[in-house]
Amino acid sequence: MKPAPLILALGAVVLVAGSCARRQPPQNDVLMKTITNFEEVVDAPLAHGKQVYSRYCAVCHGLEGKGDGFNAFNVKPRPRDFTDSAFVTRLDTALIVETISKGGRSVGLSSAMPPWGRTLSEADVRSAAGYVRYLARSAASAKPASDTLSQ
Ligand code: HEC
Repeated sequence: MKPAPLILALGAVVLVAGSCARRQPPQNDVLMKTITNFEEVVDAPLAHGKQVYSRYCAVCHGLEGKGDGFNAFNVKPRPRDFTDSAFVTRLDTALIVETISKGGRSVGLSSAMPPWGRTLSEADVRSAAGYVRYLARSAASAKPASDTLSQ
């Protein structure tokens, strides 16, 4: 085939495909809905983690995880600042989950970090751990790690 007819043929295919797509908008709607649902599903654990964290952890660790919740000044040692470089560089999900679930003492930290395994479901503990990681990670990517509160 010479170039000209080939281009014409391709053009025809594109036109036909285009008009088919235009005649079936419902399919596009379904696709968009699937994408939206997918985003909701992906964001859901983080949103839930934020809820759990804000309710149970922020009093000590602070809403942004900087260890500056209103109760932080009553506990010794100071609650962990999740955005400090020492923590960010050793993020270990299993250890974080264990710390939250069984408390500071079980992992060789202070008992000022309470055990949450009886208060929260396993899923809630995991969500909270995910949110702690999220806070640490976003701090690390937003700015050079700072250590505002040393313990
Ligand atoms: C009563 C205050 C208090 C509350 C409430 C609290 N924490 Fe803590 N948390 C602490 C303190 C204090 C430490 C530091 C213990 C140490 O360094 O010996 C700590 C340490 C931690 C650590 C370990 C950090 C490290 O250095 O490895 C994690 C993870 C953690 N907390 C998560 C949570 C989560 C998640 C919640 C909510 C479910 C929560 N904490 C609620 C006081 C608190």
